[in-house]
Amino acid sequence: MPSGSRPRLLVTRKLPAAVEARILGSYEAELNADDSVMSRDEIVARADGKDGLLVTVADRIDGTLIAALPPSIHIIASFSVGYDHIDIEAAAARGLAATNTPDVLTDATADIALLLILGAARGAAAGMAAIREGSWKNWAPTGMLGTDVGGKRLGILGMGRIGRAVAKRARAFGMSIHYHNRHRLPPDQEGDAIYHSSVEGLFEVSDILSVHCASTPETRRLVNAQTLALMPEGAILVNTARGDIVDDDALIAALASGRLRAIGLDVFNNEPDIDPRYRTLPAAFLLPHLGSATLETRNAMGFRALDNLDAFFAGREAPDLITPHRRSTSSAS
Ligand code: DGY
Repeated sequence: MPSGSRPRLLVTRKLPAAVEARILGSYEAELNADDSVMSRDEIVARADGKDGLLVTVADRIDGTLIAALPPSIHIIASFSVGYDHIDIEAAAARGLAATNTPDVLTDATADIALLLILGAARGAAAGMAAIREGSWKNWAPTGMLGTDVGGKRLGILGMGRIGRAVAKRARAFGMSIHYHNRHRLPPDQEGDAIYHSSVEGLFEVSDILSVHCASTPETRRLVNAQTLALMPEGAILVNTARGDIVDDDALIAALASGRLRAIGLDVFNNEPDIDPRYRTLPAAFLLPHLGSATLETRNAMGFRALDNLDAFFAGREAPDLITPHRRSTSSAS
């Protein structure tokens, strides 16, 4: 980047107006006014002459893309907390910095997890379909009965920021909290939650299981035929983390057979081309990856991504660096 000039940024998706206004105040930016989804080749072509990329979870920043990026690119800032869409090792190997946006979407995502838990437990998908299709004829004492969440054991798989925010909300609904995490939480964070040192132990006690772990090689397909079979009869599973933590065949079979009572999903394998069988299951309460989708939260995510970019281009360490090393911008073209 020539000294004195503003950093040049490619922004792959349309962002909230306040975020784009801040971008234009500090960067020579190429925005995406019509919000079209860019192919790998398009991202690479548009990255030409830029110093950084501002990307989203909907962009697959894999090793092939990273290898093809022009040498002027020094940072990939993601508008997301999760970063399984970025090949971090490939980025680090090329000396690229990469950043994410932790903290700012914790509450919005925890709210959606509670919506899924309540929606699944109360049969909201079938109820909404009955209203929309006009098939609701009468109030019936035994019609469309859900199950209470109060008094149920909520298993939280991954007790990070979002998992803990879900636990806080679930306590207010009268659920008891169980969790599995790589490390047991310190007492001030654990509170009355019951720790299970094994994934299996958690599935065995979970009347409702909420997935909050990151997508990693270790957690991929962790929700599978074997683990689902451990859950109590009529249990509920909800996922606001990542679709690839779930084996779709196993989850659909468990719901279709009645082994699971209901499911709530905000994330899917191969979004947005989800397994079509989910649409046919009345006990599946489904949302299109809305976890962070509030204006306040999306603004905060954008500002956090920009805090990272600003720090990086000012020669400071980006606060949310997810790559081990960064190359100084002074070596930029
Ligand atoms: C994230 O930031 O990782 C979320 O999935 C987007 O809502």
